[in-house]
Amino acid sequence: MTRSSRTSDNDPLSYGPEYAYFCKKVTELSGIKLDNYKSQQMHRRLVNYMKRNQVPDFLTFARRIEKDQNELDKFLDYLTINVSEFFRNKEHWQVLKNEIIPELTQSAPIGKAINVWSAGASGGQEAYSLAMLFLEMNLNWVSVLGTDIDGKSLTKAREGRYSEDEVKGVPEDLLVKYFDYDGQWYCVNKKVKRLVRFEEHNLLGKKYPKDMDLILCRNVLIYFTDEGKRHVVSNLVSSLRPGGVLMIGATEALFDARNYGLSQIRPFFYKRCF
Ligand SMILES: C[S@@+](CC[C@H](N)C(=O)[O-])C[C@H]1O[C@@H](n2cnc3c(N)ncnc32)[C@H](O)[C@@H]1O
Repeated sequence: MTRSSRTSDNDPLSYGPEYAYFCKKVTELSGIKLDNYKSQQMHRRLVNYMKRNQVPDFLTFARRIEKDQNELDKFLDYLTINVSEFFRNKEHWQVLKNEIIPELTQSAPIGKAINVWSAGASGGQEAYSLAMLFLEMNLNWVSVLGTDIDGKSLTKAREGRYSEDEVKGVPEDLLVKYFDYDGQWYCVNKKVKRLVRFEEHNLLGKKYPKDMDLILCRNVLIYFTDEGKRHVVSNLVSSLRPGGVLMIGATEALFDARNYGLSQIRPFFYKRCF
């Protein structure tokens, strides 16, 4: 079926009724609304997935994920694109360390732990990087929350076990201090783990945590439509305490930061104004 001119660009119906039915089925089974993700990108990814897995059409695909939990899990795993790295975009972590965190700790209420959230945490690399950074700055009174919609990513994050290739972004001295090596895997040690917890959370849902001093939401917004992005950014802002900071990814930008009550303080860093 060709794309219809009667529907908006991001309407699943513009890719035909079978695709729209498939999207509805995914929402029923997983709570994930595909129409909040960029349609063209999503449709192309799904067609590639179907080709690779010999699924002839969207109706068959919908039936498969409905009947077989393994098929559903495999598909969701593919869908959520969970690539991550420790200290991804090193130069931004330098800004975080030298400028943002010192400012934040000065403006934070005295006697209260610093609340940090890695939203779209994937396999936990970002949340653990944050915990290591705070430990290195002798700031032990910190609570790091890592959340993701993807169950498999959360299992990996909670385990905190990484291959040699996965820890390549960790500076040598931190690798020695904060990981136990068992001959094959690098396992995040207790000093770091005690600061971090992981929870399931859908950024496109309604419930958001509160009172965050710092939120990292990086390389997640790029997958959402403008409407999805608006929903996520306005909720992230209400999760921040006034004066709290939102950090986004290296390929992302908020052109309308003021409309959300944010002011840009450095490239990729935005402060909640009131
Ligand atoms: C590319 S990874 C980014 C990981 C990390 N933030 C980083 O920059 O290295 C994107 C993550 O967003 C998660 N994600 C996608 N849609 C989501 C949603 N609606 N709610 C929460 N997490 C979502 C994916 O499961 C994936 O782990």
